[in-house]
Amino acid sequence: MTTHNSDLSALAQQALNGNPAPSGLPDAAELTRLANQFFRQLPNGSDPIDGIPATTSTPINVAPLSFDSRPGIDDSAISALVQRSFGLPGASDLHQLNSGPLTGLQASTPDKLQSGSSFYFINQVSALAQSAQLPGLASAHPPFDVKAVRRDFPILQERVNGHQLAWLDNAATTQKPQVVIDRISEFYQHENSNIHRAAHELAARATDAYEGARDIVTRFINASSSSEVVFVRGSTEAINLVAKSWGKQYIGEGDEIIVSWLEHHANIVPWQQLCAETGAVLRVIPVDDDGQVILAEYQKLLNSRTKLVSFTQVSNALGTITPAQEIIELAHRAGAKVLLDAAQSVSHIRVDVQSLDCDWLVFSGHKIFGPTGIGVLYGKAEVLEATQPWQGGGNMIEDVTFEKTVYQPAPAKFEAGTGNIADAVGLGTALEYVSRLGIENIARYEHELLVYGMHALQSIPGLRLIGTSADKTSVLSFVLAGYSTQDVGKSLNEAGIAVRSGHHCAQPILRRFGLEATVRPSLAFYNTYEEIDRMVAVLKRLQCAKRSF
Ligand code: ALA
Repeated sequence: MTTHNSDLSALAQQALNGNPAPSGLPDAAELTRLANQFFRQLPNGSDPIDGIPATTSTPINVAPLSFDSRPGIDDSAISALVQRSFGLPGASDLHQLNSGPLTGLQASTPDKLQSGSSFYFINQVSALAQSAQLPGLASAHPPFDVKAVRRDFPILQERVNGHQLAWLDNAATTQKPQVVIDRISEFYQHENSNIHRAAHELAARATDAYEGARDIVTRFINASSSSEVVFVRGSTEAINLVAKSWGKQYIGEGDEIIVSWLEHHANIVPWQQLCAETGAVLRVIPVDDDGQVILAEYQKLLNSRTKLVSFTQVSNALGTITPAQEIIELAHRAGAKVLLDAAQSVSHIRVDVQSLDCDWLVFSGHKIFGPTGIGVLYGKAEVLEATQPWQGGGNMIEDVTFEKTVYQPAPAKFEAGTGNIADAVGLGTALEYVSRLGIENIARYEHELLVYGMHALQSIPGLRLIGTSADKTSVLSFVLAGYSTQDVGKSLNEAGIAVRSGHHCAQPILRRFGLEATVRPSLAFYNTYEEIDRMVAVLKRLQCAKRSF
């Protein structure tokens, strides 16, 4: 049965008013469910039926970012970051704007900013630079209202050590909006069953919800068909699936697999294991001192023995955005297949598997505001079709005799056993939520936060930023002279600020910078300038304490 928005609206209103349902209409439980469904469809910031507390977050009101040169501080990396990643103005542009005559938007905006940019708010930059109320370029684009967004995440109201939680550990995991929490709960209240559609009503509901989530993923990453989307536990399982199915089938002695120096252990260890089993060789693309892969060196690694290039789109330890399109194209020209690890990119930038043309793409639900224990392996139809399953069992078979088994086509072929049905449904809701906010809006806002954070951290004497690539998102790794990363993490925790300190499951890249660990604040769209200021204040206090000894 399809329920239209207008019906839902009327029903929800009725439920809220406490009026009895007219005969023939659903009962109270059904009304509540429909009302919840209706409220999930409202734009962000609307009051939810189940009463997420209204925000108590402090309004953003921080000192404007100064783009003046500061003695001893080199802004060139940050400037390049601004300019390269999103076509935004760099520090020198902003400095110029700040000091130039401000007589109105169009009149005072340099031609190069007006002409080259596809972002309308660039044209307003001089007005922003003039405003003392605005931190950096914040709030320049009405589509993104961080205060409304924060109301969607109940956990952001938590207090930790007497302070409001500042969740700056988004590269490890993201927080969940109420719609996701509600959707999972609704699944268990009204739809829970195994997914064998024909058996009974609840089985049909569960199957529809699960396959509906697969359709949402399909649209979100622009796969050409939902049969290219396999549900797995997360990125790690997805990579292991490819290594242990396709890898065992197609990789042999003397073949070469290329990864980059930026990889998470999950994109190193399964390939090492495969190499050990098959006699294949692992090759590594080096990175430069900013933490970007060196394309010229990559090209030298490619040859006719290269069977696979598996690399990350965004480094979890540094935030580097790799030139994925170029890496993929070059790999294909060499006849290699490509696996793209999108675990750290999918929540920050648009990921389109058809335009990227990767053969596989993996990501984890919990890093994109969905539940833990659910993730996605995308594979091109022809690649999945030509690959043997890695696990056998129920759900993935067409027919079983003691002599032989006929498998289902993908994706079922790769989903043996009962999957994580409820969390797949929750992931679907998370992706819908992100889509409603708009990934481009998210990218712009986060980019501004990142630039602000890079500036602010760089102003702290003794602080070394690790990862200064011009193409970068979300991650602000650093070390602070005189302190272990654990001590810094502890001090931030005392102030209610959650960051990860350690090796971030990416030891090779940290060692490339002569380190065993960093402190790693990592951003999401619900973070604020105020949270960055709070972190910087703690770090400045630590730094001062050291100097006063
Ligand atoms: N991969 C996660 C991180 O970067 C756990 O923290």
